[in-house]
Amino acid sequence: MAAESPAMRRVQVAEHPRLLKLKEMFNSKFGSIPKFYVRAPGRVNIIGEHIDYCGYSVLPMAIEQDVLIAVEPVKTYTLQLANTNPLYPDFSTSANNIQIDKTKALWHNYFLCGLKGIQEHFGLSNLTGMNCLIDGNIPPSSGLSSSSALVCCAGLVTLTVLGRNLSKVELAEICAKSERYIGTEGGGMDQSISFLAEEGTAKLIEFSPLRATDVKLPSGAVFVIANSCVEMNKAATSHFNIRVMECRLAAKLLAKYKNLQWDNVLRLEEVQAKLGISLEEMLLVTEDALHPEPYNPEEICRCLGISLEELRTQILSPNTQDVLIFKLYQRAKHVYSEAARVLQFKKICEEAPENMVQLLGELMNQSHMSCQDMYECSCPELDQLVDICRKFGAQGSRLTGAGWGGCTVSIVPADKLPGFLANVHKAYYQRSDGSLAPEKQSLFATKPGGGALVFLEA
Ligand code: GLA
Repeated sequence: MAAESPAMRRVQVAEHPRLLKLKEMFNSKFGSIPKFYVRAPGRVNIIGEHIDYCGYSVLPMAIEQDVLIAVEPVKTYTLQLANTNPLYPDFSTSANNIQIDKTKALWHNYFLCGLKGIQEHFGLSNLTGMNCLIDGNIPPSSGLSSSSALVCCAGLVTLTVLGRNLSKVELAEICAKSERYIGTEGGGMDQSISFLAEEGTAKLIEFSPLRATDVKLPSGAVFVIANSCVEMNKAATSHFNIRVMECRLAAKLLAKYKNLQWDNVLRLEEVQAKLGISLEEMLLVTEDALHPEPYNPEEICRCLGISLEELRTQILSPNTQDVLIFKLYQRAKHVYSEAARVLQFKKICEEAPENMVQLLGELMNQSHMSCQDMYECSCPELDQLVDICRKFGAQGSRLTGAGWGGCTVSIVPADKLPGFLANVHKAYYQRSDGSLAPEKQSLFATKPGGGALVFLEA
């Protein structure tokens, strides 16, 4: 499976309303017919939040919502991008001079990340041009990975235009790396599941080396996604990168405390691997080595024996240079305990005890609590929404994705679903103050969907 490439499927476009609409819009925009179409799905992370960039396994599934791109290669060396959503303006550039401006959160930059990743992988300086029309139905800035789906879709578009071949794993790794051109130091979860997902199963995604294993979810329960309607664009603020840096610093301090060579340590998982101990033992080491009071940059420099200048230039990312407070103890506690919860979740799914839905729900609740208290990546609306979901029948509910807004995911016994949906809708979306934008409201049951693929018109 590891070497498998994304599928290429022949379809009757006329039988697929979304493809047909895209084909017609493409024709009126560019005056020609697309040569092929690519889709890449968004995802919901069931458990394992903010631990992929620390080297730990996560447990997402692809959702049905995706990014779909209609493509026509052209001979002009010009890249023309258009979006079916009028909120996203047309963009065009020379395909040989791709510039990604990190300072501006522009939609087309995500496309450019995917394109640049493939271009660099093959060491190409000359790319053929193309016309692309993009259609996405993943709610943006909602923790369901709309941006990574666009990066992955653009990567597969570029690969297909070049007529080259790469495995799903290679594509996922290239796209995870190239999305960092946007400026966020994400892990590889979103891109991995977008390529490696398979219908009907969630996946345990492990890193270094990247691999995906099926996790069969309980048949008696449904996973429900609910949007808090608080938008969180992780590229527009430094919250996300601050967490990545806190974990990196915690890893270095833990390694130093244990007399390991710390300067090349970047991830909390590396410390555990070097010590050869369990996650539970890592929690004890964290208790001994780190203190709950926040660290300031001077104390970190003292602990590591480095200068402020070295801290800034050799460890911190550009957008975290001026951070004055680092909560290393809390972040490390979250990461090691969340990594353990992922493994417990998978084990319960495999063993399928009678009270499995309840046990999985408890792990999801613990995950939310840790995100809230230790990782501080929740917000009042998300906390309120998980409370409402639990009150109306969810066995467990938690924020999903980066947090600070976006969606929750809840595990709901299948027989309670209709009442759950009606009650949550009433309690959260029909609030008396009418403060929630109707177009962002979404509450839906989801099933594990398939991964990225190419469609050719039959
Ligand atoms: C974002 C990142 C992922 C992951 C999650 C948090 O989606 O892109 O790599 O870190 O946040 O779990």
